Amino acid sequence: MDFKIRKIKFEDYEQVEKIYFEGENPENADSEAFLMPWDVWIRERVPGCTIVAFKDNVVLGWAALTPLSNKNAAVGVNDDDQEVRVAEEGVYVAEKYRRQGIGQALLKKIIELSKKNGIWTLKARILPTNTTSIALHKKFGFKEVDSDGSRVKMDEQWKDVILMERNAKNDDFQDR
Ligand SMILES: CC(C)(COP(=O)(O)OP(=O)(O)OC[C@H]1O[C@@H](n2cnc3c(N)ncnc32)[C@H](O)[C@@H]1OP(=O)(O)O)[C@@H](O)C(=O)NCCC(=O)NCCS
Repeated sequence: MDFKIRKIKFEDYEQVEKIYFEGENPENADSEAFLMPWDVWIRERVPGCTIVAFKDNVVLGWAALTPLSNKNAAVGVNDDDQEVRVAEEGVYVAEKYRRQGIGQALLKKIIELSKKNGIWTLKARILPTNTTSIALHKKFGFKEVDSDGSRVKMDEQWKDVILMERNAKNDDFQDR
């Protein structure tokens, strides 16, 4: 499918929310649920690291980074003694546009942007049942690491998640 990628704009946000709920909570995807006001959402993301895949005016999917360490704080050092900045990554594709390479294109782009923005480590929390997302992340050099004990609440139940991590050094994925 023919699509392009650009930064998320305010006008995209309604579609972004809908795609989020379609991915996280498919039974209630048509509800009037909303994430949080746009200005709060965008403020909580890594500046410049929020993207959509689109065709015409339709948002097909999106990806974004949320900082896990203070932007100016060194939370560790890598082998070259550089400071480590950490962000959590999320990628979502509208159900009817899945399996057409959009998730892959978004993940590739958000990894590039993370490196440009000085982020060393990306983390993703994924339900063990979400084999699609696990496969996608593995393809881009994410590795399963020891859980930090975090869980997500879904359908009123707390569920364990798999923690996957990618360091900027692991550029071992193949460009398509
Ligand atoms: C995970 C998700 C983003 C993948 O998006 P997508 O556009 O369908 O993915 P792509 O078409 O780019 O596929 C990329 C790779 O993912 C894997 N993949 C995609 N769909 C798959 C499936 N149904 N089964 C197994 N692997 C799959 C494959 O490795 C695939 O590469 P390949 O086509 O070369 O085999 C999408 O399924 C989604 O939005 N899911 C719901 C939300 C979600 O779980 N987000 C992740 C939260 S961390």
